Amino acid sequence: QIYSKIIGTGSALPQRATDNQALADELGLRGIQTSDEWIRTRTGIEKRYLAERGLTTTQLAERAAKSALWDAGVDPSEIDLIIVATTTPDMIFPSTACQLQKLLGCSKGAAFDLQAVCAGFIYALTNADALIRTGVYKKAIVVGVDIMSRIVDWDDRSTCVLFGDGAGAVILEASNEPGILAARLSVDGTLDENVLGCKAFINGGEVHGDPYVRMDGQHVFRMAVSSMSESAKAVLSDAGLSVEDIDCYVPHQANLRIMQKVAQKIGIDENKMVVTVNRHGNTSAASVPLALDNAARHNDIKKNDIVLMQAVGAGMAWGSVLVKW
Ligand code: ACO
Repeated sequence: QIYSKIIGTGSALPQRATDNQALADELGLRGIQTSDEWIRTRTGIEKRYLAERGLTTTQLAERAAKSALWDAGVDPSEIDLIIVATTTPDMIFPSTACQLQKLLGCSKGAAFDLQAVCAGFIYALTNADALIRTGVYKKAIVVGVDIMSRIVDWDDRSTCVLFGDGAGAVILEASNEPGILAARLSVDGTLDENVLGCKAFINGGEVHGDPYVRMDGQHVFRMAVSSMSESAKAVLSDAGLSVEDIDCYVPHQANLRIMQKVAQKIGIDENKMVVTVNRHGNTSAASVPLALDNAARHNDIKKNDIVLMQAVGAGMAWGSVLVKW
């Protein structure tokens, strides 16, 4: 039987961190009132990294992919599958994955983008796992990358304080031993796009519609808690494991209160939960691999540990992946 195993992680952030006070001061100059206290108590976010002018999604993806390749000790020439999860590509086509292949100097196999907003990395990882299990692909790079700061409305304080930019990546390799133990992907497509959406489109050489992220935060909050806790139970049952078997929990880093509520509902000890939302904000598709890379580099994940990763976002799309490290 063929399995897939994570053999390296990497991540990349823009150069400049903006803390809540600096952001509140900047917004205040334009008459938009917010505060460090509001942002911290409602979300747990203390700072975020915002892409400098000229920094591209492809460049962030490249930096994260190279750091994961280095961590895994894998040469780009060995890669035969690249999946990039992003909602903020530099262009409609070619895909970010195709551009990344060129920048890394890989030449064989497949490369494509996948769009599931904040759940994108979980979707991409599940797809890479399935393709490796076919026996056709041997080594994959899976990237989650987003520059959300370019699609948030900086005049809308209810969304602009929440997001940050970044990229995270893993190297996945075909293996005889189980790595990815189980994965569950779900969608409830009935969610109104006014609750969570970005409704821009291009037609006739012009951008039409509303080009900014719109969100009914409380509605999303409730759906995030119920979907992630149900999904965790399902994936544990698929793998024949119980919540006590989880050594490390890497949830989507959107809001600390959501993360704590889900951990509580699943019954995971909060000490096992990786928290980076305070430093990164919600980085959309990058959130889980950024947090995973942080945990791996700080030795918070050890060989044979059971790791639960989860994310939820617009769609609503959500999912969970259970991994043996
Ligand atoms: N600063 C100060 N006050 C603010 C701010 C701000 N930045 N933003 C909103 N407020 C005000 C509101 O206007 C409101 O004032 P009012 O009571 O006078 O009308 C008040 O604060 C309370 O607003 P709520 O929306 O009720 O605040 P809530 O406690 O629900 O927190 C938040 C809002 C942080 C957005 C929360 O609902 C949340 O995290 N939701 C989930 C977001 C999420 O997880 N998204 C993930 C998916 S994102 C994706 O897929 C792209």
